Amino acid sequence: MKSLHLCVLPGDGIGPEVTAEAVKVMERVCKASGIELRLEYALLGGAAIDEEGIPLPMKTIERCRAADAVLLGAVGGPKWDAVEAHNRPEAGLLGIRAKLGLYANLRPAKVFPPLKNASPLREDIVSKGVDLLVVRELTGGIYFGEKGHTEVDGQDAAYDVELYSVPEIERIAKTAFDMAMARSKKLTSIDKANVLESSRLWRSVINRIAQQYPEVEVGHMYVDNASMQLVRNPSQFDVIVTSNIFGDILSDESAMISGSIGMLPSASLGYSGGGLYEPIHGSAPDIAGQGIANPLATILSLGMMFRYTFRMPEQAAAIEQAVENVLAKYRTPDIAAEGLETVSTSRMGDLVAQEAEKLVAAK
Ligand code: IPM
Ligand code: MG
Repeated sequence: MKSLHLCVLPGDGIGPEVTAEAVKVMERVCKASGIELRLEYALLGGAAIDEEGIPLPMKTIERCRAADAVLLGAVGGPKWDAVEAHNRPEAGLLGIRAKLGLYANLRPAKVFPPLKNASPLREDIVSKGVDLLVVRELTGGIYFGEKGHTEVDGQDAAYDVELYSVPEIERIAKTAFDMAMARSKKLTSIDKANVLESSRLWRSVINRIAQQYPEVEVGHMYVDNASMQLVRNPSQFDVIVTSNIFGDILSDESAMISGSIGMLPSASLGYSGGGLYEPIHGSAPDIAGQGIANPLATILSLGMMFRYTFRMPEQAAAIEQAVENVLAKYRTPDIAAEGLETVSTSRMGDLVAQEAEKLVAAK
């Protein structure tokens, strides 16, 4: 019997609620597939600060490394705002990505057909269809560069360094080109090469790797223009590849195009087969504990896990289909619609788990 070992990092805010629903789905899909599931939990972010005094305990790193894949909820919240920078919940998230070597972050953004009215963009802009994938470099650049304080003209000053090495750009470029090959063979690299030296290196490496992928149509765009184009005409994009900071910003913008940040999953991958899967949204402390959070982004992250880490596309497709089928009748409050039943976080999880099990069993 095949067995899978999953490490769950519920984290903070709505993290525990949404991961609990994804675990329900995981259990049912595994049952229907004849897979033995081993679940383990570990602390990350504020939850770890409260228990152990630091956002990323060694035990958490070890448990993640030992697992086949990691499912993460979200980290952070006002409770830990006063904590010193290197010990904030966010440092735990950046730390686990770095410790696991997860340099490629895949953030798909699409308009789900049942939710096409949810986009804040005009209907004629989204009606051409939006289905794009942001490939964000995740363990380099300014988020990991040298940082500190210094003095300028006798006044306090602070700096953060944006630095990319050729191998760092090469590996993320390869991930992005491979993704483009599996999709519509169109890749847009986003940088600020008119100003930044690191962007000029980025662009030259992308162009060199492009020679290994003659079928892929490659374009370059400055980040300021790209942020405008994303709302002007998002359908022009398929795969986007960009640096850590630009990817952080543009993936939130892309997510909003779909109108429902509560719907969007992500995968963080590295050299090893294992990966870390998490919803794009944050810990939403304002709605935590009320049973109203949307668990679908986390459930869809599980779908990505079946696709990219377990290489079980049938289970991945069943999870995605289950979400779409359930959305036709039921909604969480964030995507409520007239004529459809509004349900709680846990009811949504039950419905998708049941539907996914049925779909897998029917294959
Ligand atoms: C994200 C988040 C994180 C990031 C924060 C919480 C450190 O914004 O996953 O996009 O910047 O990567
Ligand atoms: Mg972000």
